[in-house]
Amino acid sequence: AAAEKDGYDWFMRKEIFEQPRAIGDGLLGRHDEAGQLQLDEVRISDDELREIDKIIIIGCGTANYAGMVAKYAIEHWTRIPCEVELAHEFRYRDPILTRNTLVVAISQSGETADTLMAIRHAVKQKARVLAICNTNGSTIPRESDAVIYTHAGPEIGVASTKGFSTQLVACYLLGLYLAQVRGNKFGDEIAAVVRELEKMPAHVQRVLDDSASVYELAQRFLGARSVLFLGRHAGFPVALEGALKLKELAYIHAEGFAAGELKHGPIALIEEGLPVFCIVPPRGRDQLHDKMISAIQEIRARGALTIVLAEEDDDEVVPYADVFIPLPTVPTLLQPLVATIPLQLFSCELATLMGHDVDQPRNLAKSVTVE
Ligand code: G6P
Repeated sequence: AAAEKDGYDWFMRKEIFEQPRAIGDGLLGRHDEAGQLQLDEVRISDDELREIDKIIIIGCGTANYAGMVAKYAIEHWTRIPCEVELAHEFRYRDPILTRNTLVVAISQSGETADTLMAIRHAVKQKARVLAICNTNGSTIPRESDAVIYTHAGPEIGVASTKGFSTQLVACYLLGLYLAQVRGNKFGDEIAAVVRELEKMPAHVQRVLDDSASVYELAQRFLGARSVLFLGRHAGFPVALEGALKLKELAYIHAEGFAAGELKHGPIALIEEGLPVFCIVPPRGRDQLHDKMISAIQEIRARGALTIVLAEEDDDEVVPYADVFIPLPTVPTLLQPLVATIPLQLFSCELATLMGHDVDQPRNLAKSVTVE
């Protein structure tokens, strides 16, 4: 088994470091030189795709957070209203589904019972179902109208890492493809985003190469009882995913919040020395960046220890960062691909230092095949 880990101590660590390759494979053959998307595998006709008037993304755990990121991207590029829902909540609210509803089921394993039951409900209601899945021939894609495979390769670590980043890639491709088929006004943007996506393997590699500070961070926070994660916009699901990883692997109480929500409650949790990871949106859009900086100032004034993930040349935020983790400059909607990496590494490292089994955390299963 040691050999299969390629010299890494854990499958999880190996899988974290495989992400540049996995993201590259997820993009391979899915667009041409001009940035036109080629997703022939989506066996729902263009006419049918043009009729879609609502998208509902379902999944559990990490897959649900990939869906939350996807909502921001897909709605922006397609202007189709898009909802995200936990798969186990979906059918119990009797969701409104028609032939023009596209249900996107995200599942690494393709066997999660909650997600499977949800798509069965959607199929019965005549919605179109598209799976985003990593496991060839698994049940969820078999029961869906179409599938986009994520091509991450087998994921052994129970906590999803390359599964998540390649789900993001598949969601981006789906959103761009829908925009292309429907001839949206964001058409010009498509080729530009595809070009940015092509740079992501190199960006992620750089984040991995520069990860020494994350290891120091894990040393420093050994013994922390509680850790918070703040983000906004596409960075909000990244905060949730960062917190989930810490719960799963280090068994530490961790919560992710939308930074704008702080003042509506969570700020009461801030006390001297509380570690708070802050995912700062790229500059120059919708004042999101500046509002995030205000939030960081607020919590720091109340004693929080801020670990700030921001664009590498973001000098504005540096004075408020107790620890600064530089990220490559990428478009806002793609930032989750780079921002998640240090959070995965932090949890993996902290759990290792605590002596936990990183690949098989207590009480968890890789794929939950019961409802
Ligand atoms: C389990 C795993 C999680 C995973 C979730 C969904 O709870 O421990 O890491 O995110 O299932 O799995 P799926 O295979 O459907 O993506």
